[in-house]
Amino acid sequence: MRIKPCHGLVGTIRVPGDKSISHRAAILGSLATGQTKVDGFLQSADCLSTLACLDLLGVKFSWDADVLLINGRGLGGLSEPTEVLDAGNSGTTMRLLAGVAAGFDFLTILTGDASLRKRPMDRVAKPLREMGAKVDGRGDGRFPPLAIRGGSLKPISYHTPVPSAQVKSAILLASLHTSGVGKVAEPWLSRDHTERMMSYFGIPIARRDGWIVIGPVTEQPRGREITIPGDLSSAAFPIAVAACSPGSILRVENVGVNPTRTGLLDVLRAMGARIALENEREVCGEPVADVVVEGTELQGATVAGEIIPRLIDEIPILAVVAAKAKGATVVRDARELRVKETDRLQELGGALSRLGVVVETRDDGLVIEGPQEIKGGVVSSCGDHRLALAMACAGLLAKQEVIVKDFACADISFPGFVAVLMDLGVQVDVA
Ligand code: S3P
Repeated sequence: MRIKPCHGLVGTIRVPGDKSISHRAAILGSLATGQTKVDGFLQSADCLSTLACLDLLGVKFSWDADVLLINGRGLGGLSEPTEVLDAGNSGTTMRLLAGVAAGFDFLTILTGDASLRKRPMDRVAKPLREMGAKVDGRGDGRFPPLAIRGGSLKPISYHTPVPSAQVKSAILLASLHTSGVGKVAEPWLSRDHTERMMSYFGIPIARRDGWIVIGPVTEQPRGREITIPGDLSSAAFPIAVAACSPGSILRVENVGVNPTRTGLLDVLRAMGARIALENEREVCGEPVADVVVEGTELQGATVAGEIIPRLIDEIPILAVVAAKAKGATVVRDARELRVKETDRLQELGGALSRLGVVVETRDDGLVIEGPQEIKGGVVSSCGDHRLALAMACAGLLAKQEVIVKDFACADISFPGFVAVLMDLGVQVDVA
């Protein structure tokens, strides 16, 4: 994709449905009895992988225009898949479904694409084994493909060493197939969509003394109607570009603003950005708002500690904006980025330097001294959707045009990105 520099973003847009919430709606709808209707489901590769895997576990899906209809099987109601489940590029699909599969005494084999097969799965395998499931995988059980045979699980109290919503969710989903009270604690709070959606389905779950406490689950969750807001992690791209481009006035309507996801908005504000939330409301247990951004010049910031899980997916676009901000932007405590769809610290550092930005990549983060010119040039997404989108945004802020090779993977989280930019009058060509 070839993208030309813009002079601010002016207009009103919407972005596709939230990826994390879409996965959870598909899974919890499958484990509830009766029909669940999902409006705003993200029809992107990752979420479609979740549907395809659940289909192999015996769940039937259909569509009424853009509304996803799930014929729920109820707790205990899934059946042994006759084929290997393919999670594609999606860590959320693999880790959450590992938790689901652990609840059943049949064999489930989960695999994924070349990127996912390199990602660590011991973080979910360990607690699921503690609950009584047999979990094996390549490399001493650490990497996919995973083979899971579960059933007769017991609840556990588990401190996860990594603040990961995927790990937490795997344990919570496995806990649905136990008869007691399960507990999970994490070093820093990660996104809590699973907890909110479980509550919305009537499952007893609460946060108490630093623990998430689930159960006992004595009744079947019943199918519900769910409306999914726009994905803040997708909205982040135009929001960040607008925030650092004087002359921008951008409104992104109907975006999820769950506080476990809004770290980027907090950091941009600390950098001097003018961002307001309007029309704040709650939809199906999730906070939703319109995000209004006015462009201005920004200053650098230090981003570390507890805020990291609240903006983990937004660090690629934050790094792009950091180049335009005055002073140093320092990101620390973000080693997790090394085990995402790519080693995002390494690839991000490499891609930015190919566009002419001086960046210091560290073991757990990066440092960018601004303001710098983003010169422009040719970069590859390395097959990583968030890098593809961040580099396209670098093109909007660059001196000369940017060409992003292998841009198609952007569809994994943000199908329609190019159309959104064109609505805003930006010049984009896609080969
Ligand atoms: C996700 C959790 C995060 C995030 C990923 C989606 C989820 O990963 O990076 O894009 O939907 O639970 P971790 O939980 O592994 O940090």
